[in-house]
Amino acid sequence: MACHGPQGNSQIPNTPSLAGQPKLFIENQLVLIREGLRDIPAMKGMMEGVSDAEIVELANYFSAQQPVAAARGTPDAASFRRGQELAARGLCGSCHLPDYSGRQQIPRLAGQHEVFLLQSLKQFRDHPGPGRDTIMAASLYGLKDNELADLAHYLAYFR
Ligand code: HEC
Repeated sequence: MACHGPQGNSQIPNTPSLAGQPKLFIENQLVLIREGLRDIPAMKGMMEGVSDAEIVELANYFSAQQPVAAARGTPDAASFRRGQELAARGLCGSCHLPDYSGRQQIPRLAGQHEVFLLQSLKQFRDHPGPGRDTIMAASLYGLKDNELADLAHYLAYFR
């Protein structure tokens, strides 16, 4: 809660919200982190000794919480529109669903912190590393930094 926020709605820009994430997505990522297959420095050691049953309980809890959008105020209209076009072209909604709420092993993107989304997109494009979804990484291939910024802006403000 100190990092991912009350009920899993993060108050820290580089930290994802867990509220309303699909249960399977949370379970998968927690196992990958526990087994050292996904390296997230801030999470190092946090999952040591956590059992499969406890992971299921964590996933049950966070997936049942109501997600609260992180972004306040109004989006930059031009950046939002560019992000929308890039998301349509990249078929992001075919996996993440048209409302970006995610499903099964695919995370919710709508309303996450813009800083987190951009950082996550850059990581997928530049060094996805083991345990990351390869089609997901491929869908960002060749996109420039400013295009990733537009995508992050669009998704952060998507309602
Ligand atoms: C083939 C299905 C697929 C497509 C197409 C796809 N994604 Fe994903 N995406 C995934 C999966 C699965 C994950 C989670 C797995 C992982 O983290 O390795 C993911 C993770 C992410 C994350 C990390 C979020 C988090 O909370 O960790 C972001 C951001 C993201 N996708 C954005 C996009 C954008 C933007 C597009 C379109 C350009 C896109 N995705 C297209 C399947 C897809």
